[in-house]
Amino acid sequence: MIKRMKGTYDITDDIGYYQAVETQINKVSKLFAYQEIRTPHFENRDLFHRGVGEDSDIVSKETYDFEDRGGRINTLRPEGTAPIVRAFIENKLYANPVVPQKVYYYGSMFRYERPQKGRFREFRQFGAEAFGSAEPALDAEIIAYAHTLLRALKINDVTVHLNTLGDKKSQTDYATALKKHFKPHLDTLCGDCNKRFSDNPLRILDCKVDQDKPIMQTAPKTLDYLTEAAKAHFDAVVDYLTAMKIPFEIDHNLVRGLDYYTHTVFELKVSKELLGNQNAICGGGRYDNLVETLDGPPTPAVGFAFGVERLIVALKANDYPLVDPHVHAYFLIMGKQARLKAMELSQKLRLGGLLTDLDYMDKGMKGQFKQSAHKNARFVIIIGDAEIENETVNVKDQLNNEEWTIAMDNLYITLVEKLTAKNYDCEDCDHKGESQ
Ligand code: HAM
Repeated sequence: MIKRMKGTYDITDDIGYYQAVETQINKVSKLFAYQEIRTPHFENRDLFHRGVGEDSDIVSKETYDFEDRGGRINTLRPEGTAPIVRAFIENKLYANPVVPQKVYYYGSMFRYERPQKGRFREFRQFGAEAFGSAEPALDAEIIAYAHTLLRALKINDVTVHLNTLGDKKSQTDYATALKKHFKPHLDTLCGDCNKRFSDNPLRILDCKVDQDKPIMQTAPKTLDYLTEAAKAHFDAVVDYLTAMKIPFEIDHNLVRGLDYYTHTVFELKVSKELLGNQNAICGGGRYDNLVETLDGPPTPAVGFAFGVERLIVALKANDYPLVDPHVHAYFLIMGKQARLKAMELSQKLRLGGLLTDLDYMDKGMKGQFKQSAHKNARFVIIIGDAEIENETVNVKDQLNNEEWTIAMDNLYITLVEKLTAKNYDCEDCDHKGESQ
């Protein structure tokens, strides 16, 4: 038997959680006035080398690269930001009169990582990017957006970790300070960190091998190397978040694993008991130079991405209530003629917006009744020879324990009346009751 590839999984029983997340993503994105954008799953490899950075783990160790039959080098997208920036430039979204351009996306990303709890080789991200404004208020909005999604999903035990990398000068001064700090301790750091020391010392703070060593805790803090403008930007983000009542804590070691960030960086983390070291469910920040790096016009930008699988672990831990799958009507069929009628009536009910199913296994009455229970049917509709003859159906209301015989022509309207009756809540019915 051919099995699924390492680090991938099938979504079967958990589909309700994914659908609940997707529903809330669409709702909350509308609240913040972000429009959905969809881009391809594979891109030119150079996009990630130039966009995410050669020194990042994602590009140097984790991409799925392949040459196609035309000799092009493709990469399965490991993240969404570089592709969205590519689309922003290629589709000239910068010329759109709506500013800032605010977009969100949802879909699979691919990283060749060591699979473990909360870490997969194919995983899903929900991300958002806002282009065109350098205003710190937009940084606060994007954090509030991420935080609001969690509130909508009733995930409360989350901490917003906040830091800033500052502007270019702040980053150069900080890199010098980091080199001074780590130089006498290079022999205690891993091989990768020794390489990072000369190429990009900031990446040392992001090392998964050395992260708990004391030398990391005593490292200089970005906040002490900010230019005045960078400090003013960060202070404003802090003020806006405070005004919006978004709780956060400043995390001096937070530098993020991708090279494009400037100014604000943040992560939303759940407890380690829930997800171990993979406890960041969302990461993001400002990236004011990336559009220009990828040959677009200078355009400041800020964004985030959630790991959907990690979100779902948190959702389950909070016992998020799912609506049980159900149908409104299930036909119990006795005989060939009855099947023909049931096919006709079921299509009528479906066109009218009722969730409808029927037997296709030629089961006996008992077997069909069992199926209707598995399907959580509100109404069981029985059709046999007598019903065909009289042009009636026998309806059992499983909720109220009632039973009636009604004219076939009245079936649809009767079911709709019952479903819209006061105090009946049906999550996915178009015919809402007065209680909603
Ligand atoms: P990232 O921190 O690399 O940022 O990924 C964002 C989130 O994706 C992580 O916080 C985590 O929840 C999830 N994630 C990452 N790798 C895996 C994996 N192997 N398995 C499961 N979940 C994973 C970015 O991707 C940036 N593009 C975020 C961003 C958008 N920055 C600005 N705009």
